Amino acid sequence: MDNKPLDVLILAAGLGTRMRSDIAKVLHRLDGRPLINHVCRTAAALAPRKVYVVVGHQGDEVCEAVLTELEEEYVEFVWQREQLGTGDAVNSAREFLENEHSELLVLSGDVPMIRAETLAGLLRQHQSHRGKGAACTMLSVSLDEPSGYGRVIRDSAGLFERIVEQKDATAEELEVGEINSGIYCFETAKLYEALSKVSNHNAQGEFYLTDVPAVMREAGELVSIYKHGDNSEIEGINDRRQLAELERTLRRRTVNKLMMDFGVTVIDPHNTYVGGSVSVGRDTVIHPNVTLEGDTRIGDGCVIRSGTRIKDSRVGHGVEVLDNCLLDNAEVRNNCRIGPSAHLRPGAVLEEGARVGNFVEVKKSVLGRNSKANHLTYIGDARIGENTNIGAGTITCNYDGKNKHVTEIGDNVRIGSDTMLVAPVKVGDGSVTGAGTVVTKDIPPNSLVVGAPARVIRKIGSEDPEDIDEGD
Ligand code: UD1
Ligand code: MG
Repeated sequence: MDNKPLDVLILAAGLGTRMRSDIAKVLHRLDGRPLINHVCRTAAALAPRKVYVVVGHQGDEVCEAVLTELEEEYVEFVWQREQLGTGDAVNSAREFLENEHSELLVLSGDVPMIRAETLAGLLRQHQSHRGKGAACTMLSVSLDEPSGYGRVIRDSAGLFERIVEQKDATAEELEVGEINSGIYCFETAKLYEALSKVSNHNAQGEFYLTDVPAVMREAGELVSIYKHGDNSEIEGINDRRQLAELERTLRRRTVNKLMMDFGVTVIDPHNTYVGGSVSVGRDTVIHPNVTLEGDTRIGDGCVIRSGTRIKDSRVGHGVEVLDNCLLDNAEVRNNCRIGPSAHLRPGAVLEEGARVGNFVEVKKSVLGRNSKANHLTYIGDARIGENTNIGAGTITCNYDGKNKHVTEIGDNVRIGSDTMLVAPVKVGDGSVTGAGTVVTKDIPPNSLVVGAPARVIRKIGSEDPEDIDEGD
C-alpha cells in the first residue's frame, strides 16, 4: 500500500445562524476553549502534513484562535468570502489542493468532540479500501433523534448511495436514523474533480459537500462508510442548547475521571464544573458548585468548599479553601487555609501554612510561612515574612495615583487592626503597629509604632510580641 501524505481541511467559515449570536460559531467556547481549538488539537494528534482552515465570518479572530493551538508553519488559512455552503468552503481551497496526490481528512469546526482514535480508524478503513480504490470514506452514526443532520441513504445491497440533507429529505428519508457526521476522508484530486459537478439546486440554494460522495459513486468510484458506535463524539453544535449539552457531557467525563482514576471525592458531580486540563489529587474533597478551570493543579487531601472558583492556579496538599473564594493565577503551598470569601489575584503566593480569611484580597504578593491575614484586608505588591499577623482592616496603600509601590513586612510582625501601610515602605522583623496606625516611613526591627503618621514609642524585647493578641 502506498502511503500518501495526509492533509486536514477544517471548515470554519460559517456564522452559525442558529446560535443567534454576534460571535462566529466556532469561536463559542466549550470547556473554556473555542470550538475550533478542540478540532485543531484533535487534527494535530494525527500528525498531518498540513492543516487547512477555511475561515470567513470573523476570520481574523478565528485565525488568531487557531494559532493559539497550532504552529503557524503547520497551518494554511483559506478565505471563503461568501458562505455558499460546505461544498463551496472546500472549493475555496482548490488552488492549494486540487493537484495533490494525498488524502484529505475533512473536519467540521462545529464538531468538537471527535477523538483522534476515531479519525485514525476512519483513515485505516479508507486505506484498506484503497486496494479497491475508495475515493471517499465517510463517518456515520445512528441516532435515535437524527433531526437536523444529513441522512445516509444506502442502496438495496446496503452500500452507500447518497446523503440527503434534512431540508431536502422526503418523509420516508427523514425516518432514517443513520446520519452524516460531516467528517470524511477523500482522495484529494478525486474530491476536487467531483466537486466541479456539484450544483446548488437544493432547498438551501447552497453547494453541499454532501453531494460529492454521490457524484463519485455515479462516476463509478467506491464510497465507503465507516460506521461509528459513539454518538456523542459526532454531535455537531448548531445552537446553544447543543453547546450546553456537550459542555455537560464533557464535564461529566472529566468529573468521572477524577473520581474513578484519581481518587477525588466529588460530593455532587452534577453541580461541579471542572475543566479538561485541571488535575486534582487523591482524597481531595470537592463540594457542590465549585468551578475549577484553565491550567489549575490541586494537590492531595484538600477540601474545596461551595461557591469557589479556581482558575489557572497551583494549590498544594492539605489546603482548605472555604466557601465563596476566587483564586486566579495564584500559588498556594501545602496546608494553607483560604476564605471564606477571599480573593487571590494574579501573583498571589501563599507559603506553607499561611492563612487568608474573610474578605481579604491578595494581589502580586507573597505571604510567608504560617503568616495570617484573616479579616477585611487588601494586600497588594507586598512581601510578607514568616509568622506574621496582619490585623483586621489592614491596607497596603500600594498606588499613589500614578505608580504601584512595594510594601515589605518582615518575620514575626504584628500589624494592628486598621493599619495603613503607605508604600513604598518596610516594616522590620518583630515590630508591632497599634490599631489605626498610618505607616509612611520604614519601621526598624523590634519597634512598637502607633499613630498617624506612625511614631516609634518603644523597642520590643524578644518575648513581647507573644503578649499581643492576634485577634483570631
Ligand atoms: C452539515 C452537513 C450534514 C451533517 C452535519 C454534521 C452539509 C451540507 N451538511 O450540516 O449532512 O449531518 O454537517 O454536523 O455539509 N461552513 C463553511 N462555509 C459555508 C458553510 C459552512 O465553512 O459556506 C462550515 C461551518 O462553519 C461549520 C461546517 O462548515 O463549521 C458545517 O456547516 P453547518 O452549516 O453547521 O452544516 P450542518 O447544517 O450542520
Ligand atoms: Mg453543523
